[in-house]
This record gives sequence, structure tokens and C-alpha cells, in this order.
Amino acid sequence: MHVDKYEQVWIRISIFVLVVFTLAVLTATVSAGIQVPGVEGRVDPNLITTPGASPWAAPSVRELAPGKYEAYVLAQIWRFDPGEIRIPAGSEITFYVTSKDVQHGLKIMDTNINMMILPGQVSKLKTTFNNPGTYDVVCHEYCGIGHHTMYGQIIVEATADTTTTE
Ligand code: CUA
Repeated sequence: MHVDKYEQVWIRISIFVLVVFTLAVLTATVSAGIQVPGVEGRVDPNLITTPGASPWAAPSVRELAPGKYEAYVLAQIWRFDPGEIRIPAGSEITFYVTSKDVQHGLKIMDTNINMMILPGQVSKLKTTFNNPGTYDVVCHEYCGIGHHTMYGQIIVEATADTTTTE
């Protein structure tokens, strides 16, 4: 089969670009630990606040092991529940977030946490807070007249280990 010289050059460039992109994705996921938020699970938004029917009926932060936490956060017009989360510096925390009404967003400033929150869907992301401080949590999807008032805070408290290293 005859393939024109310029056609061959472009085919090679296309293959090269695909290889570069594949390596970039592998580097980001394996080496840099970048995660893309996906659908973790589904939940019935009508039963979300029914006691016992879902963990979001009593949104909370749980310590699974020393330095390991999980947070079940419920987004609703126009607040996050819990609105304030306190953990010690160096903690790894996994967020499971859903909405009980409309579409929301959840972005934690200065972290890799940035999720869309949809009713019926569970969004999950994990991060580690090494530096003590107050991290603002904002809703970044327009969710109605009080959208701009929808925020929360994550307070990362200094520990004996972290105060000496800062
Ligand atoms: Cu919730 Cu904007």
C-alpha cells in the first residue's frame, strides 16, 4: 500500500502525541496521585435524611484510625453539613459528599478537592492536610439565590509534631 510521504509524517506525529498523552496521564495518576472525581455510588435523595437510611442522616467526621478520617458531608441550600470540620495536621481524610436538593459544588481551597455534588450521587475524594490552618470550603456551582453564602471551613489543628517543623 502506498502512503504519501507527508501522510506518513503526520501519522507518526499523531502516534507520538498519543504516546505522550498516555505517559502524561500515567505520570499524573501513578506518580503525582491526581485523582479524577468519579461516581462513587448512588443514594436515594428522598431518603437521605431518614435516620438509619444513609450516613448523611447524621453527617459527621469519623476517625477510622490515628490520622485517618472520613467525612460524610451533606450539601443543601445553602450550607454544608457539617459546616466546620476539625482534624489534626498530617491527617488523611476521605470525603463522601452528596446533595439533598439541587446541584452544588465543593471546593476546598489550597487542596486537590474540587467536586460536583449532585442529588442521588455520591462524590468521593481523599486528601492529606499537612499544614495547619483554616481552609475555606466553597460551593462553586450556582445553586440559587443564597449560593454565595454557601461555605464551610476545615480547621487543621497544629499538633506537637507539626508545630516544631513549621
Ligand atoms: Cu450550593 Cu452554590
